[in-house]
Amino acid sequence: MEKTLRLDKLLADTGRWSRKEARALIRQGRLTVDGKATRQPELRVDPSAVGLAVDGEPICWSRHVYLLMNKPSGVLTATEDRHAPTVLDLVPEELRRPGLSPVGRLDKDTTGLLLLTDDGALNHALLSPKRHVDKVYLARIDGTISGDDVAAFRAGLTLEDGTVCLPAELEGLEPGLCRVTLREGKFHQVKRMLASRGLPVQALRRVSMGPLIMDETLPEGAVRPLKTEEVSALLSLTER
Ligand code: URA
Repeated sequence: MEKTLRLDKLLADTGRWSRKEARALIRQGRLTVDGKATRQPELRVDPSAVGLAVDGEPICWSRHVYLLMNKPSGVLTATEDRHAPTVLDLVPEELRRPGLSPVGRLDKDTTGLLLLTDDGALNHALLSPKRHVDKVYLARIDGTISGDDVAAFRAGLTLEDGTVCLPAELEGLEPGLCRVTLREGKFHQVKRMLASRGLPVQALRRVSMGPLIMDETLPEGAVRPLKTEEVSALLSLTER
């Protein structure tokens, strides 16, 4: 397999620049290869064997793309749908890749952190209950949390249909607002767990998934590539 890639392609693969922007910044001398500025977009290098930096910031090249979305309400967590907009529709053209899919599902009306990647191994690792990757949600609820609710979550709830849930954390933050930490992702799980305690959910937002924390500066519906340190933190999960 070809191990070398053109510099402009390599920068565009990170999802942070289009091919055109990559060519322009390389010609401006902003890219260094092993510490030396190079102005040749067509130069081929082996990305795993050289140190690359743009404006002094190290660039982590990866075969895969990792995107963080601030999912808005009203959008389906799916790759395509004939009737409703999907999260893939919100991904700008230059960030799309074959096989790009959401990691796990958020309900149509749930907002917040959604990771999208074409890295199937990471997708699998993050969803496996065996890995115990925490997913944290903020829920607006109708009611107030009691010590019994907290204890029931911690013990592992059994839902009305007999579904048994792993132990989970429930914290009351203020009247009508709580934080739920799950290690699995069953269908409508947070809503069903809270409903089983007589606490209907009015609004739900995911704020973290494992080491990945929602970037609250990201506007609703926007997507950005993960930063190098965010990718490294996620990939360390697949090494466990
Ligand atoms: N639990 C839910 O009920 N809905 C979501 O979207 C995610 C977790």
